[in-house]
Amino acid sequence: MALRKLVAGNWKMNGTRAKLAELDGIVSAADAAPGVDVAICPPFTLIDAAVAAAPSLPIGAQDCHHAVQGAHTGCVSAEMIVDLGARYVILGHSERRTDQHETDRDARGKALAAFAAGLTAIICVGETGAQRDAGRAGIVVAGQLEGSIPATGTAANLVIAYEPVWAIGSGRTPSLAEVKEMHGLIRAKLEAILGIEGAGVRILYGGSVNPGNAAELLAVPDVDGALVGGASLTAAQFVPIIEAAAAL
Ligand code: PGA
Repeated sequence: MALRKLVAGNWKMNGTRAKLAELDGIVSAADAAPGVDVAICPPFTLIDAAVAAAPSLPIGAQDCHHAVQGAHTGCVSAEMIVDLGARYVILGHSERRTDQHETDRDARGKALAAFAAGLTAIICVGETGAQRDAGRAGIVVAGQLEGSIPATGTAANLVIAYEPVWAIGSGRTPSLAEVKEMHGLIRAKLEAILGIEGAGVRILYGGSVNPGNAAELLAVPDVDGALVGGASLTAAQFVPIIEAAAAL
């Protein structure tokens, strides 16, 4: 089943208000691609201004807390993100798993909070280079899916991003055959965990997606979009990726 593609940009810890000028070109490209969903996930500090600058463009956050509110200095709840007009939240990104020691269980708790607030959670999974070299990529990713996906996940409130850790920011990507194999495994796992809903959950590929490789990656079966880091920071790089999705 071909699902509607989602091309999401993860700005990570990049951008001050001047960066929002990039949204003009991204909005134009999104408007010209009605068959594709486009989203930008800027830092928390830019969400409010991004929603104001680009009201038609779905905006997302890059993390949320599992609790609704309370004594959690420096943290941001899903409800606060919704309050700004954002619609997505990236959870369990490998940089947070490394830098903030987040676990599958953390990602699951945050996803439940996101669902309760009405956000769509983009849960990230992916093996390290050492795990792939050891032939364990499939087992690692299957375990991450089992540990992080709530049973209440649906095609509407959940997106999975397969991001091999060794491909993020490295300029290296898995072969198309490796992407196909892993996305097929993820699809089967989603259907095992979520039943029929699992067939409709979009599976994004992420890790060094750029204008040169987007078309071939997006054409792989069960690749339902892309989560783009570095190449989402400028309209010049991100727009061709949106166009590649629209051309399929
Ligand atoms: P990259 O990052 O596109 O810069 O490799 C992707 C990601 O971490 O989401």
